[in-house]
Amino acid sequence: MFARDPLFWRAGAISSLIVTLAILAMLTADTLSVISTGGANVPAYTVINQQIGYEYVTDRNEYLPTIGGQEPLFGRIYTPGQAEALVREGKLVLQSRACLDCHTMFGTGAYYAPDLTKAWLDPAWEHLWMPMTGTHTRADAMAAFLEHPQQYPTWTREMPDLHLTPAEARAVVAYLKWVSSVKTNGFPYGFKTATAGGT
Ligand code: HEC
Repeated sequence: MFARDPLFWRAGAISSLIVTLAILAMLTADTLSVISTGGANVPAYTVINQQIGYEYVTDRNEYLPTIGGQEPLFGRIYTPGQAEALVREGKLVLQSRACLDCHTMFGTGAYYAPDLTKAWLDPAWEHLWMPMTGTHTRADAMAAFLEHPQQYPTWTREMPDLHLTPAEARAVVAYLKWVSSVKTNGFPYGFKTATAGGT
């Protein structure tokens, strides 16, 4: 009988291994296409040149970022290379000041201070910080706050002055704008912008 033949079992083991490896390779390629920058869920760095919104999608029962028309950041449009360099610098500033000792991003960090994953979309930039800082764009208000957080408090806990240079503050703004465009399956749960979803 063929089932007694060791060659039959060896061939079976080898072919199932090959099939499993092929499935694993397909799943890995699929995951990478979704999580890499420029893929389905993580927009390219040049998204910092565009309007980003946040919209409730009923059939998915969650908020999703929307990417709109051109919106220069600090009055300019960045090439792909410049956008990548600026976002990278912003990330390094966050790492150098250990911002996640107080804040959270993508579920990592602390909850002493507001979640930063969608901070760019916080309506407080327009409602509170633009008037407080005397600026006319969300990006300028954010940069002004980041440079002098103790001059513009809006909460019971205050953010310490981390001595960001104007260039560092702008890089952080670019980084946070890019981060806000990432599809996070509605995370952080409960975050809403004033205009999103109508509620
Ligand atoms: C010691 C804790 C602490 C550290 C470290 C810290 N922050 Fe904050 N941060 C706060 C607190 C508290 C607030 C709320 C302040 C307010 O609203 O007046 C805040 C507010 C913010 C906001 C506004 C969020 C919103 O939508 O309301 C941003 C953006 C921000 N921080 C970015 C940063 C960045 C970038 C770093 C690192 C360079 C950083 N923070 C480091 C405590 C901290």
